[in-house]
Amino acid sequence: MRFSDSFLDEIRARLPVSEVVGRKVKLQKQGREWRGLSPFNQEKTPSFFVNDQKGFYYDFSAGKSGDIFSFVIETQGLSFSEAVEQLANQAGLAVPASSPADARKEIQRRTITDVLELASNYFRENLKSVVGEEARNYLRRRGISEAAQQEFCLGYSSPGRADLKNYLASKGVSQETMVDAGLLIAGPDIPVSYDRFRHRVMIPIHDGRGRVIGFGGRAVAEDAKPKYLNSPETSVFHKGSVVFNSHRARQPAHDDGTVIVVEGYMDAIAITQAGMKNVVATMGTAFGDAQIEGIWRLSREPILCFDGDRAGLAAAHRSIDRILPNLRVGRTFEFAFLTDGDPDELIAKKGIDAFKDILRGALPLWEVLWRRETEGTTRIDTPDSRAALESRLYELIKTIKDPIVNTAYYRTCRIELSELFWQRSRAHKRLPSDGLTRSEIKIEKEGQRHGIQRIVLGILVQHPELIEIHYDQIAKLPLDAKYHNFHRALYDLLVVYPDLNVDLIYDKLPKSFFEILNEVHGDGDNKSDRSERKPRGHMLFQRFPIMRANPPETFVIACLDHFVNMLQIEQLDSEIGEFFSDNHSQRDVSDESMLRIMEMAKELNDRRDRLAARDRELADEAAEIRRLGERYSAPLAKPREPESFRL
Ligand code: UTP
Ligand code: MN
Repeated sequence: MRFSDSFLDEIRARLPVSEVVGRKVKLQKQGREWRGLSPFNQEKTPSFFVNDQKGFYYDFSAGKSGDIFSFVIETQGLSFSEAVEQLANQAGLAVPASSPADARKEIQRRTITDVLELASNYFRENLKSVVGEEARNYLRRRGISEAAQQEFCLGYSSPGRADLKNYLASKGVSQETMVDAGLLIAGPDIPVSYDRFRHRVMIPIHDGRGRVIGFGGRAVAEDAKPKYLNSPETSVFHKGSVVFNSHRARQPAHDDGTVIVVEGYMDAIAITQAGMKNVVATMGTAFGDAQIEGIWRLSREPILCFDGDRAGLAAAHRSIDRILPNLRVGRTFEFAFLTDGDPDELIAKKGIDAFKDILRGALPLWEVLWRRETEGTTRIDTPDSRAALESRLYELIKTIKDPIVNTAYYRTCRIELSELFWQRSRAHKRLPSDGLTRSEIKIEKEGQRHGIQRIVLGILVQHPELIEIHYDQIAKLPLDAKYHNFHRALYDLLVVYPDLNVDLIYDKLPKSFFEILNEVHGDGDNKSDRSERKPRGHMLFQRFPIMRANPPETFVIACLDHFVNMLQIEQLDSEIGEFFSDNHSQRDVSDESMLRIMEMAKELNDRRDRLAARDRELADEAAEIRRLGERYSAPLAKPREPESFRL
């Protein structure tokens, strides 16, 4: 800990709570205490109390209490050490440096920031004076108001090679310090040192406490390269951790509950000028850990803005990889994508409301990550590609160090993958048009589920010897109750008559099942007009004509397997579907059932893929049977009729 207890006590002793709080809250004396309206809640009757003797405040409406440090932290969004520094200043105490080395650094730091402050003021004077005319015109063209220029302390570096150098020298600043401050370029192979920034609009960059630590310089000349020239790394300017405008955005971000993060200085300035002061800029650099933490100190859920083009999307994607390891409970980012241009251009063209619309459409981090991994060229059409997607997502989630967030992401990921796989399998529900189901089966009117159920039962009537083999599988299917009973009755009959055949079924099955028997298989009739006569089994033959050709048993077994498989797949599908329609919130889902759904969704995909392949194979077999059937039946005088067809 940098601050000793005695130092903190000294601050507490010098600053009554009522004094610190009194700057924010209007207090009235009430006995030994002070009373006022809660700074944390909107309220009409005061429920906020301050007790100077105890050194505490109590807020009964928000259920909060604390001392002067927590008050400043809570109401201004400061870190603890920032709060200590601020209050120490107010108490007239010097903040102790923790070691001699730190103390030395602090002195050096102070000289550099002093020089930077001097330079900043010099640039500001330039902008107002004769040399600044072109820059002033430039800013006017860009629509940056005088007020915004003041607010952001904009300045101008004149074109001369030693203008700033001469000015700083006149103030007693050594060349070495100018170089250390990043303002002067010097070196062994540079004969005469010269100003880094020339003929640029100067945008000072401040640290969290508002001290100038560096500059961004926008070229005034259109063709100047680079467009922006920034301070180099110095002992006070660390590109990886700088967040432009954070000291000004702190309070607005705290009041607003969020902070907007844009890429460019000019974007931040334009947004501020349009009335949104809770904005910071990352300055086009890679998003570093220190910047992430710095932004989180302003708000728990900042909104990152990216251009809507491919480069913007790529930048958003890169930043996700940086953010993931740093995620914590209650700390995340949202992502807003612009549609045309950057925020500055958007606001100039369509106004701040258009920009606010974009912000309202911001996506949660997970959503952007999910889209990145699942959209575009991502394949999920094979078991391997599905496994690859799954493991890629898990690898990414693994980088989240916080165990609670990590678990939450895993769960979300599992559910969404299950749903994705399920949706994918539904999209591929339709079997191939050259397959068995669509070329050999005629069940359009009845709907697939009913038609297939009837064919299955019809086949069992035609080939009762298969009832036992398939008993368990069929008993487990979600058949309509009447079909279940029918199936059971067939089985009971088989127990009594081990040599059960189709005619025996028509003879012995209880009459109550005749309606279904007729529906799934079809009794023949004895109409006198032969041309209208229908053979026994005509309903099955109508639905599945290949059965009329008396196909070999292996084929019949394969078809029965296939149809049972189809019904099971439909069952699996609707079970998963129920899960997703029942679990919109996804909160109460146990890990177990989540894993199970995931496995089911994967299984469903695999089975549907295999089903489609099998469907084709069986169509080929059916074609072969027809071909052979014609060849062999050709020599016969008249077509062989099914045995069951009797006059
Ligand atoms: P952009 O190239 O998007 O510029 O850079 P911009 O903000 O729209 O600038 P204007 O509107 O043309 O003036 C975004 C940010 O990237 C950094 C700057 O911080 C800039 O604000 N940048 C860009 C550089 O540091 N150097 C460059 O040469 C360009
Ligand atoms: Mn721009």
